[in-house]
Amino acid sequence: MTIVVRRTEPGDYEAVRLVFSGPNAIRGTLQLPFPSAELWRKRLAEPGEGLFSLVACVDTEVIGQLGLHTFPQSPRRKHVGQLGMGVRDDWQGKGAGTALVQAAVDLADKWLNLERLELDVYTDNEPAVRLYNKFGFVIEGTLARFAFRDGRYADVYAMARLR
Ligand SMILES: CC(C)(COP(=O)(O)OP(=O)(O)OC[C@H]1O[C@@H](n2cnc3c(N)ncnc32)[C@H](O)[C@@H]1OP(=O)(O)O)[C@@H](O)C(=O)NCCC(=O)NCCS
Repeated sequence: MTIVVRRTEPGDYEAVRLVFSGPNAIRGTLQLPFPSAELWRKRLAEPGEGLFSLVACVDTEVIGQLGLHTFPQSPRRKHVGQLGMGVRDDWQGKGAGTALVQAAVDLADKWLNLERLELDVYTDNEPAVRLYNKFGFVIEGTLARFAFRDGRYADVYAMARLR
């Protein structure tokens, strides 16, 4: 099985919606249940300036998505990128997350010249913390009651990787 990473295209919206409709994907991110196809269509059709959206595919099937947000309009945050991602529930633990983060780190280091990559991750999301550790992200602190998740507040770690 070969996982290929490519740029997200507008026509990927239904597949990306599916990625973020699984219970694990919703729990691990800031997505809500019942994701709207129209909302995803708009998001992918009109990505904001500075957003690099990538998808992981097996054959032609999209199984994961990663967004690298940059801040070209902010002179003092031009060196920063923020990551958010999800792998479809039935494809988790099979290397797609690794392929997506590797691609984002390569883009950041070798082409965008970003010094700092940052993200937030729920403190109990072990697979995600391990994945980010593997690429040199470290925990900078804990943000308490950062988000409401499945009936209660959840804490996140602020993690970053400095080049
Ligand atoms: C977290 C997530 C992105 C990881 O992607 P993935 O494709 O499942 O990860 P990979 O298969 O590449 O594995 C990456 C690492 O995670 C760890 N890992 C994977 N599955 C794991 C599990 N079930 N338990 C513990 N660690 C696990 C391993 O350390 C693995 O690295 P290794 O195989 O080299 O040891 C994915 O599981 C996901 O989308 N989860 C739901 C949404 C989410 O949490 N998004 C992240 C928001 S910060």
